Amino acid sequence: MGKTLVIQPVTRIEGHAKITIQLDDSGNVSDARVNVIELRGFERFCVGKPVEEMPRITTRICGVCPWSHHLASAKATDAVFGVEIPPAGKKLRQLCNSIAYMEEHILHFYILSGPDFLMGPDAEYPVRNVIGVIGAMPDVARRVVKVRHMCAKMLELIAGKAIHPAAAVPGGFSRPLSNSERDSLLPMAEEALELAKFTISYAKENIFPKYLDVVKTVGTITSGFLGTVTDDGALDLYEGKLRMMYADGSTDEFSADDYADYIGEHVEPWTYLKFPYAKKKGPFALEDNAPSLYRVNSLARINVADYITTPLAQKELEEFRNLFGRPAQLTLLYHWARLIELLYNAEMAIKLLKDPEITSRDTRATVTPRAARGIGVVEAPRGTLIHDYTTDEDGLLTHVNLLVATCQNNSAINLSVKQAAQTLIKNGQYDQGTLNTVEMAIRAYDPCLSCATHRMDGRLPVKIDIVDLDGNLIDTLVN
Ligand code: MG
Ligand code: NI
Repeated sequence: MGKTLVIQPVTRIEGHAKITIQLDDSGNVSDARVNVIELRGFERFCVGKPVEEMPRITTRICGVCPWSHHLASAKATDAVFGVEIPPAGKKLRQLCNSIAYMEEHILHFYILSGPDFLMGPDAEYPVRNVIGVIGAMPDVARRVVKVRHMCAKMLELIAGKAIHPAAAVPGGFSRPLSNSERDSLLPMAEEALELAKFTISYAKENIFPKYLDVVKTVGTITSGFLGTVTDDGALDLYEGKLRMMYADGSTDEFSADDYADYIGEHVEPWTYLKFPYAKKKGPFALEDNAPSLYRVNSLARINVADYITTPLAQKELEEFRNLFGRPAQLTLLYHWARLIELLYNAEMAIKLLKDPEITSRDTRATVTPRAARGIGVVEAPRGTLIHDYTTDEDGLLTHVNLLVATCQNNSAINLSVKQAAQTLIKNGQYDQGTLNTVEMAIRAYDPCLSCATHRMDGRLPVKIDIVDLDGNLIDTLVN
């Protein structure tokens, strides 16, 4: 008889998921799936609202990455109103974005994924967590907590609050930054840069070499990659053109306004998460190396960018590319790419704070309601995030579509988990360490599932399994 292994809940990710692994008669993995078991309704209940409220409403999609939704939404509302925002307004948004990135990448490296590497994939439950990390490296843990707290303080100083912000408004930024505020932010950004430099050196010396076998074998798949670059190909997290790089290194480039021509959306009945795919290489197929399979998030951005504009991160990119080529495919390299981005954002925060224009009083242009469609895109820490709004002549929303970063990694996450399970579970043999290593294939993608479940027009994929007290399946309802 075959057997089903269930890992539920998957821990140290944002949101809720379970993994089901099907074993065949001989105890080998025949299939594995990641089921996302929560559902949001923002695209529905925002219809009818005034579009200018969207940058505030959509921060509530997520308590972890509210800044990404806030900025994508502000950019979509700018586009709906057809307004060009003043340079200082844009730079303040970019500064907040870089600070939010640092906070999230530090969280992911040290607290969510760190225990797998710092304590080891096989470490016992009681220590394979943040408490274990604090016990093992108390001085580093103290710095990590301090810098994360400082990032929140910086966002509060610039934007009024760190979580669920309201400072980015249609037309710009709601308040200018004073010279004295700027002066108090600079030493904090410099301390964050020191932690970023320490983190990537520490990881290159102590973690990546030690786990090279794990990196080369766990969750490996081959795919294309999507990210944002400037006109001359530099990494950009706030604006630019979208570049899709396929597995053979060839590329398609397009404006965010044309995303629907390049990205298709597919649904399956066993998860609330959609499956976006590269339409030009379609059809959709949940298969390793499928031509339409692509990934987003740190590794994707590092792959699609020709270069990075800040010197320390550029040096790291060159080293990374010499070691792993382009596009680099190994899934656990997402961690390495994330640390290059951590460095980039620390450098960017300092660069923006030293820019004289950042303290200009001119941060906001006036706007007038009109009937229009506006698309706003930013690179969220977890990948390309698209907000797409249409309004009537009173500025009320008639249509909303959100294409969230994590859902674009849905196919890849499922395939990586299946690959990890097939590699690690043989002849019915597995233990807690094995199952945690399967989870590591998910954690590499740093999924934010609370962000990621959004309806697709026309069809909501819901499947209900009815089971008796012994867990036997009696009936399945599909809408
Ligand atoms: Mg949608
Ligand atoms: Ni999120």
